[in-house]
Amino acid sequence: MIGSSLVVLYGIALVSSMGVQSARAAYADDCTTPDGDQGRCMPFSSCRNIEERLTEAQKSGQKVPADYAVYLQKASCGEFNGVRHFCCASAQIQHNSKVMTLLKDENFDCGNFLSQRVANGYEVKLSSRPWMALLRYHQFGESRFLCGGALISERYILTAAHCVHGLQNDLYEIRLGEHRISTEEDCRQQGRKKKCAPPVVDVGIEKHLIHEQYDSRHIMNDIALLRLNRSVPFQKHIKPICLPITDELKQQAEQINTFFVTGWGTTENGSSSDVLLQANVPLQPRSSCSQAYRRTVPLTQLCVGGGDLQDSCKGDSGGPLQAPARYLGEFAQKMVEFGIVSQGVVSCGQISLPGLYTNVGEYVQWITDTMASNGL
Ligand SMILES: *[C@@H]1O[C@H](CO)[C@@H](O)[C@H](O)[C@H]1NC(C)=O
Ligand SMILES: *[C@@H]1O[C@H](CO)[C@@H](O)[C@H](O)[C@H]1NC(C)=O
Repeated sequence: MIGSSLVVLYGIALVSSMGVQSARAAYADDCTTPDGDQGRCMPFSSCRNIEERLTEAQKSGQKVPADYAVYLQKASCGEFNGVRHFCCASAQIQHNSKVMTLLKDENFDCGNFLSQRVANGYEVKLSSRPWMALLRYHQFGESRFLCGGALISERYILTAAHCVHGLQNDLYEIRLGEHRISTEEDCRQQGRKKKCAPPVVDVGIEKHLIHEQYDSRHIMNDIALLRLNRSVPFQKHIKPICLPITDELKQQAEQINTFFVTGWGTTENGSSSDVLLQANVPLQPRSSCSQAYRRTVPLTQLCVGGGDLQDSCKGDSGGPLQAPARYLGEFAQKMVEFGIVSQGVVSCGQISLPGLYTNVGEYVQWITDTMASNGL
């Protein structure tokens, strides 16, 4: 663990200088580096030049040179969740290296989708979208699934902030590996043989992590992470989806013609389908959503769907907008979560409005920093 040992190594020297700045700065706040560059307050593992210097020092087993220790003291902008933060020049900000190491590991088997196609009508083939998660709430003395999400690591679910905000006491459990909600065992016929998925896995939630700038009135920055109270081992029907972690993948979000939305049609009113469904939804220019929602649509959102609306109510609120893509140069295509169902998408009315989705690529920095700060 680079992180904890560095804190031990340099903690004592840095602590005394912390007081004043840390009271004001918060994660990703604007700041000025000791060199006079504009930057943001980031964990050291999200700051390329600082991480390189600290890693170098740690490898050589020596302390950082005195002048660099002074630089670090000046750059220090707080400690959040026990992780030292520094003012990092904008050009040096990188996705958190601890999380990237995990996501880029060759054994991290994300986005493996078996089959793109659907079985009966819109029904997804058994275990072919193994990242799909159902969010379970206590409400009015009942237990209900009221939102969806996606598994992105052994410990984290990615969902919408509106599924979590103000509901921290109600939202208590995640279901993974589900296909048909009403049956104990989910099976399919293959020739004469019956193939069944392993049982579903219900996991508790340890932390509800809502984006710091979530705006519940205008539904902006509609993104949240749920830290599970234990790691979930990946298996046939439980696997993570990939994230758009490279510039190339982030740009692709603007070029893909058709995305997939999968879900049980779960909204604040419950599920509309017993079985996991998939719909195709076309990318639309942001101007279509600007018109429909009467406001500007920023780059942090994607405008998707509309038109032929037979499909539009099958996604889950908080569920993934996905598409197959080349991931880290691998030959096989992987399913990547480009968006999170945010607004408008799940109203199953007759009016065919396009929906607004959180543009995940714009939040990979937040996702990786939040995961690193709260434990992988
Ligand atoms: C996790 O949460 C579940 C559901 O709330 C609970 O039953 C379980 O005991 C918890 N497990 C751990 C390891 O804390
Ligand atoms: C949920 O039900 C209420 C009352 O019927 C309705 O007004 C609302 O639009 C529904 N929400 C969704 C997302 O379908």
